[in-house]
Amino acid sequence: VTRRQGSGTRVAGPPVASAVARLDATPVNDVFRSMLDSTAGALDFAAAILPALPLVGEELAAVATDDLGHLLATTGYTPAGLPALRARIAEHCSASGVPTTVEQVLVTTGAQQAISLIASLFVQPGDTVITEDPTYVGALDAFRAAGARLHGLPVDRHGIDPDQLEHLISRVRPALVYLVPTYQNPTGAVMSEARREAVVAAAHRHRLPVVEDLVTSRLHLDPAPRRTWLAGHDEDGRILTVDSLGKDLWGGLRLGWIRGSAALVGRLARAKAIADLSSTSVTQQAGVRLLDRLPEAAELRTQQLRAGYERVSTHLARHLPGWTWERPSGGPVLWARLPEGSAPELLAVALRHGVNLATGPALSPTEAHQDRVRLPLVLSPLVMDRALDRLTEAWAAYRPGVGDAMVGTPLV
Ligand SMILES: Cc1ncc(COP(=O)(O)O)c(C=O)c1O
Repeated sequence: VTRRQGSGTRVAGPPVASAVARLDATPVNDVFRSMLDSTAGALDFAAAILPALPLVGEELAAVATDDLGHLLATTGYTPAGLPALRARIAEHCSASGVPTTVEQVLVTTGAQQAISLIASLFVQPGDTVITEDPTYVGALDAFRAAGARLHGLPVDRHGIDPDQLEHLISRVRPALVYLVPTYQNPTGAVMSEARREAVVAAAHRHRLPVVEDLVTSRLHLDPAPRRTWLAGHDEDGRILTVDSLGKDLWGGLRLGWIRGSAALVGRLARAKAIADLSSTSVTQQAGVRLLDRLPEAAELRTQQLRAGYERVSTHLARHLPGWTWERPSGGPVLWARLPEGSAPELLAVALRHGVNLATGPALSPTEAHQDRVRLPLVLSPLVMDRALDRLTEAWAAYRPGVGDAMVGTPLV
């Protein structure tokens, strides 16, 4: 109740945490924390970050020589995105089988901002969001920061089971569903075409917005599967497609986008204007050029991912006996299972040995997958070898249920 002298006592309703209280109650995930806290000194084996491809530098140089004169004559503020880039992204979507107009595209500062903007539009404190379990950790944090309660669905080789999705929707009445249908982060699962159709049909039946995140979708180790985007099955604007150049080319570009109905994109553009007024014009101009080079980038990434997989899997097979995994057909990571013990315990030991890890529970809306760690496939060879060596030392020192066999001895 609230009381005010002279005006009586009223029932105030359920307490609603302030945004600051919510953020304080939502500590940033382990993976992002290692990027924030560079003083920790541990090698970052937690984030699934791919190094910049040289062609990014080529196109940035071309922008400096050919495009800057024209660009500097503009205001530089483009809340919905640089018109040329919106048009180029619309063309990319249309060429991928999803006819798209310029009004259906919003440029964002990376896919992470795209997810945060969607969360701010659709998720009120106390609402429910359904994700795959495990999933992309940055999405979990964005939904938690918006005050969401999270529910997870298990993922098999072909993604989530649409019948289970339908059941869960009826039970928890979510505000939003978030999925990574192709090369799911971290399992590498590729959702079958039949399941895609069923997921979109469920979205229609329940009038539910569904986010499909395509950020990892072009990172194939094996020949790319022919799959329709969820948006390609969508007839009434329920699907919001999130994508970026962060994995194909370089995360430092901070270039992402949302494709959705023109009405929703208009609302999201207003939220984007409030968030940061505009993504930077210079990188957006580079994006116009870089989208032409996506097929070339995908080929280069495939070579890196195959070589990375050989390196990591050979090391695990030789030096980490009992660890198991399925070879992914795509995606930037390997989802490994420990033969015994718990990944959070191993992480504590690994940090003392100077290497950070993404554990299963950190990637889970329900803190499941205690026996899993996610390992990146592509890092510079030097960092990769040192990180794998430190992980091997940590595993040798780790005693399940006890932790570090040499507790108290600083190692790095
Ligand atoms: C599935 C997925 N979505 C989104 C992101 C974030 O992308 P960006 O760097 O464009 O913000 C990542 C990065 O790891 C990711 O794996």
